[in-house]
Amino acid sequence: MRMHRKDNLDARLAACADIMTGADLTEKNMKKAAQMKSYIDFGDIFKNAAPVHLEIGCGKGGFVCGMAALHPDVNFVAVEKVSNVIVTACEKAKALALKNVHFINCPAEVLPRYIREGSISRIYLNFSDPLPKLGYAAQRLTNPRFIGIYSSLLSSGGEVWQKTDNEALFEYSVQSFSECGWKVTQVCRDLAAHPFEGNVITEHEQKFMDEGRSIYRAVYVKQG
Ligand SMILES: C[S@@+](CC[C@H](N)C(=O)[O-])C[C@H]1O[C@@H](n2cnc3c(N)ncnc32)[C@H](O)[C@@H]1O
Repeated sequence: MRMHRKDNLDARLAACADIMTGADLTEKNMKKAAQMKSYIDFGDIFKNAAPVHLEIGCGKGGFVCGMAALHPDVNFVAVEKVSNVIVTACEKAKALALKNVHFINCPAEVLPRYIREGSISRIYLNFSDPLPKLGYAAQRLTNPRFIGIYSSLLSSGGEVWQKTDNEALFEYSVQSFSECGWKVTQVCRDLAAHPFEGNVITEHEQKFMDEGRSIYRAVYVKQG
C-alpha cells in the first residue's frame, strides 16, 4: 500500500537536520553505496564516549525515544529507510529534547558507510517486516547477509536484541543466527507471561498486545 507523503516533508526533514543524517541515494547499488565511507563521528555528535546502541527499522520512534529517556548514559542511533516515517521519530525526539539520540535515514544495507566497524555494543530489531514469501528472504533483517553487517558493526561480545509478533520470522531468525555461529540466549515465546524489567514497548508491540498476540523475544550474542 502506498503511503501518503506527509505535508511539508522536505521542510520538516530539514528542521531535523541537526539530529539526523540523511540518506545519500545517488548510488543505487547498495553494496557499492556501503563502501563509499562517510563515517559519522559519534564522539562529536554526542559529545561523550558513552556506548552506542543501534535500532534498525525504528518506525515512528517510540522505542528509541523511550529508551533514550530511560538511559541517559547510553547513546542511541536509530535507523529507518522511509523518510515519511523517520520524520515523526525525529520530531518526537526533538519534542522531548533528547540529547542522546541520532537518526540515520537509510536502508540497513548501507549502514557500513556511516558506522565504523566495532563501534556499536547493541542492536535492536523490533517487529521487523516478516516478508513471508521465500523470494523476499534476503530482505529479512535477520537474513545472514544482514547478520554479516551486524557482526562487523558490533564490538566484541556485542548483542542483537529481537522482538517480533511473527512466529515464522522468529524461528527463521533463531536458526539464522545459530547457523552464523552466534550464541542464542533469552529465548521467550510469550513475553506477556515472562516480562523482563525495563522493556520499552514499541508502537507495533502495543498494537499486537492489544490484539492479544504473543510477542517473541531473543538475544543473540556475537562470538569473538
Ligand atoms: C513493522 S515496522 C516496525 C516499526 C517499529 N520498530 C515498531 O516496532 O513499532 C518495520 C519498520 O522497519 C523499516 N525497515 C524495513 N526494512 C528496513 C531496512 N532494510 N532498513 C531500514 N529500515 C527498514 C520499515 O520502513 C518500517 O518502518
